[in-house]
Amino acid sequence: MSSSTKNVLLRTAGLLAALTFASAAPAEQAATAGQRVIHKDVVILGGGASGAHAAVRLREDFGKSIVLVEKQGRLGGHVSTYIDPESGRPIDFGVQSFIDIGGAKDFFARMNVSIGTPGRIVNKARYVDFKTGEELDYVPPAAADRTAGLTKFAAAASKYESMLLPGYWNFPAGKDIPEELLMPFGDFARKYGFEAAMPTIFSVTGLGVGDITKELTMYVLQAFGAPMARAMLGQVPTFVPASHRNQDLYDNIAALLGSDVLYSTTATRVERKPGCGVEVTVRDRAGRETLIKAKRILVSIEPVGNNMAPFDLDRQERAVFAKMDYSRIYAGIVTNAALPGATSFTNFPTDAAPSNYMAFPELPFTARFDNLGGDLFRVMILGDRDTMACAAKRNAQASLDRMLQAGTVAFPEGFAGRRKLTFKAFADHGPMHVRVTADQLRAGFVQEQYALQGHRDTWYTGGAWSVQFQTILWQYNDIVIPKLLQGM
Ligand SMILES: Cc1cc2nc3c(=O)[nH]c(=O)nc-3n(C[C@H](O)[C@H](O)[C@H](O)COP(=O)(O)OP(=O)(O)OC[C@H]3O[C@@H](n4cnc5c(N)ncnc54)[C@H](O)[C@@H]3O)c2cc1C
Ligand SMILES: *[C@@H]1O[C@H](CO)[C@@H](O)[C@H](O)[C@H]1NC(C)=O
Repeated sequence: MSSSTKNVLLRTAGLLAALTFASAAPAEQAATAGQRVIHKDVVILGGGASGAHAAVRLREDFGKSIVLVEKQGRLGGHVSTYIDPESGRPIDFGVQSFIDIGGAKDFFARMNVSIGTPGRIVNKARYVDFKTGEELDYVPPAAADRTAGLTKFAAAASKYESMLLPGYWNFPAGKDIPEELLMPFGDFARKYGFEAAMPTIFSVTGLGVGDITKELTMYVLQAFGAPMARAMLGQVPTFVPASHRNQDLYDNIAALLGSDVLYSTTATRVERKPGCGVEVTVRDRAGRETLIKAKRILVSIEPVGNNMAPFDLDRQERAVFAKMDYSRIYAGIVTNAALPGATSFTNFPTDAAPSNYMAFPELPFTARFDNLGGDLFRVMILGDRDTMACAAKRNAQASLDRMLQAGTVAFPEGFAGRRKLTFKAFADHGPMHVRVTADQLRAGFVQEQYALQGHRDTWYTGGAWSVQFQTILWQYNDIVIPKLLQGM
């Protein structure tokens, strides 16, 4: 994050049920020997921002029995808290802060997490084209121009807020989709004259969609929307746990949910049984299998790539998920003796200098190295759907290598230590920022996607159905959960 940027990364189900009830119910899946069988009202896949919150709401507020199936050994998904072994200081290199939207603060209070103000690291900002390694004479927009730009952006974006947030429930179909939402975001920026806000929109959260000038306006609004602009303008607070350890929230949720969470566990088979709910076979890392029989399934993981492989998808479901394109995002904490302290290196293409605020790198790219104090740097790598973890790390290494070759950074004289990046921590944030083309949107993609809500006792939450912001996803849950509960 640059020094001029604040560190605030920040159907009727009844009819369907009636129809399916009439069809012959297939025989229930029998548990195989040694397999544990559990019966629950709702099985939730994925315990990140949306799944963990939904689990609390369903069990604590609606009195439903739940089981939460989480791949990792902890809840919290994109939250990545690294504890510096030397100082004991927690460093959040995933989720940075929470926007105070809806009942976000109340939810923290309920989870016994007291809140504080996000920390701010002020670094010297240096701008480098990571493709050449050359330092750029780039002059960021003046603070007043940036603020004016963000204000114009917030006004333009807020026109569409009710269509996009906290989900696409009110999104128009076909010809009724406003043309502005389907134009390249660069054109939208020129139309409303907020070019000076573009570097901020990109570097804070927009970078997940790549070159924001080329992406459809609606997807940039989803990656950095009016709420984020209001937060940047100081009109809406952002906060973190007072401990400055974002994992605390999800650890407290984990303590509350207790044995209703199955950790280090993934689904191996998901079968929807018309009239009989769902049967999910899950397996933990030790190979132990559990058969979960539930009335409903809530899917909070991104419905792309291998994530849906265990599902008995029908044609309608397959047609929707097959259209989805997405990015892959990686973040890490690295050290290297050539990277100077108290400095942020931000990647811009050469033609961004000296003051072209509409030039951004294309996926895949390493976005930045930001000093976190001491010799630790946060690195962010953005990829397309095919950029896997190994290629992401190589991209970061190649970015450093080019800076070394160009003489932008150098090892201290006589340096004999490790010359490669050392990854102290690395997080694969997986698929994010699901999007389709303007033509697919005009042809009714959003309506096809949302027709899957409740289809075959299956409900969805998470970034692919809403936006990539923690507290807005909690608002999304507040809409989807009552729908899921209908007829239960
Ligand atoms: C680097 C980074 C920084 C961010 N910073 C902020 C920020 O400052 N503020 C903010 O509001 N938002 C931030 N976000 C966005 C926010 O974290 C996401 O929008 C949010 O976490 C999405 O919630 P989700 O429930 O869809 O997915 P996740 O939170 O990712 O949860 C998905 C969960 O499912 C699990 N899972 C995945 N596959 C499977 C499987 N097959 N079986 C079982 N479990 C599985 C994962 O382990 C994970 O726990 C950031 C995101 C990233 C990547
Ligand atoms: C919060 O603290 C209260 C009082 O100690 C306790 O009763 C409650 O169970 C706690 N809730 C959570 C979510 O930890």
